[in-house]
Amino acid sequence: MKVYSKGRTQTLSTSFHQDLKEIKEKKLFRKLECIDSSKDSHVLINGRSFINFASNDYLNLSGHPGIVKAASSALKKYGFGSGASRLLSGTYVPHKKLEERIAAFKHTQAALVFNTGYAANTGIIPVIAGKGDLVFSDELNHASIIDGIRLSGADVMIYRHKDISHLESLLKKDTQRANVKRRLIITDTVFSMDGDIAPLSDLAKLSKQYDTVLMIDDAHGTGVLGKTGRGGLEHFGIRAGNIIQMGTLSKAAGCYGAFAAGRRDVIELLINRARSFIYSTSLPPAVVEAGIKAVEIIESGSARLRKKLWKNTNRLNDGLTNLGYDTLGSETPIVPILAGDVSTAMKIGRYLYENGVYAPAIRPPTVQEGKCRIRFTVTAGHNDEDIDFALGLMKRRL
Ligand SMILES: Cc1ncc(COP(=O)(O)O)c(C=O)c1O
Repeated sequence: MKVYSKGRTQTLSTSFHQDLKEIKEKKLFRKLECIDSSKDSHVLINGRSFINFASNDYLNLSGHPGIVKAASSALKKYGFGSGASRLLSGTYVPHKKLEERIAAFKHTQAALVFNTGYAANTGIIPVIAGKGDLVFSDELNHASIIDGIRLSGADVMIYRHKDISHLESLLKKDTQRANVKRRLIITDTVFSMDGDIAPLSDLAKLSKQYDTVLMIDDAHGTGVLGKTGRGGLEHFGIRAGNIIQMGTLSKAAGCYGAFAAGRRDVIELLINRARSFIYSTSLPPAVVEAGIKAVEIIESGSARLRKKLWKNTNRLNDGLTNLGYDTLGSETPIVPILAGDVSTAMKIGRYLYENGVYAPAIRPPTVQEGKCRIRFTVTAGHNDEDIDFALGLMKRRL
C-alpha cells in the first residue's frame, strides 16, 4: 500500500537520510551485533569466540539447568504466549506465585510483575507523581526513569550525582510550594554506566524528614548487593517500609521481566493505573516460571556465585586501577574505564574486539558528552584467565 505521493516519499527519505547522516557525522551510529550463541563467559559472534564483558547476567544464571527446566516444563503445560494483558486473561498462576515470591524476597507487603524494567519505570513513576507534583532525580539515573518522569508530567528537579546536600537544598527550597500532592525522590541503586552505589541510607532519612516518597531502581542491585542478594536495601540494612522498589529479572536473575515491590496499597494503585502494565500483553507463563526458579536460586543457593562475582569484580577493578585507569568510582561488577571522546572510546572498543574481548564503547546519549567509556561487566561466569586476558590487553594505551 502506498501512503505517500512520490514527492512526499522523497522528502521523507531525504529527512531520514539527513538524520542518519547527522548521527554518522558525530560518530554515534550504532549497529546491532548478532550473537550466535553464548555460554558462561564466552559468546560466539560470526563464528568467532569472544570473552564477553558486556552482559548483565551477573550470577551466570541464564543457562542454569534448573531455570531452563522450569521454563521448558511450563512451555509444555501452558504453551508460549499468554494471550492477553494481566487484567484480561493474562494472569496465570505463575504470575501470582512470582509476585508472592518477590514480595517475600524483598520483604514487602506485595509485588507486581512488569514485562521489562523499562516498562516498570515508565509505568510506576506516572502513578506516583503527576501534573503539579515534584520529582527529585539523580542526574545519572537510567533513561527509563527519565522517560517515566517525562510521561508523568510532574515537575522535575535534578540533583547532582549522589549529592545529598544538593538534594536537601532542593527539598528545602521546595517546601514553600503549595498544592504539591506528592514529592518523589528517585534513584538507581547501582548506576548502570558508572557502577557506583547510591547513598540509600541518607536518601531514606531525607525522604522521611521531608515527607517524600522514595523509589529505588534496583535493576543492578537485585541478586548482587546484600549478604543474601536482596539488593540495595539489604546492602545498607534499611527496612523496606514505605520505599518503592523496582527491580528486574533480566540481569542477575538471568531471565526476563521486572517488578515493583512495596506497600499493598501502592501495588493496588499500580494495578489500576500503571499504563504499561494495563495495556500490554503479560509475560509468557514459561518466562515467569523461569523467574520464580531464579528468585528461589538467588534466595537459597547463590552465595557461592556471589562470592565468585565479587572476587572477579575486585580482580578486574584492582587490575585496571593498577594500570592507571579511572574506573569512575565503581563499587560493583559494572567496571567502566573513562575514555573521554567518542573516537578514543571507539578505538579501544575496536582494539578489544579485534583481540577477542567483547566490551563495546559506550557513547552519548547513553553517557554525557566527553564521558565516553568502555563498560566492562563482570559475571560469576568469568574465571581468572578471562580477566587477566582483558587486563593484558588493557596494558596497551590507545
Ligand atoms: C538501572 C536500569 N533500570 C532499568 C533498566 C531496564 O530494564 P530492562 O532491560 O528489563 O528493560 C535497566 C536496563 O538496562 C537499567 O540499567
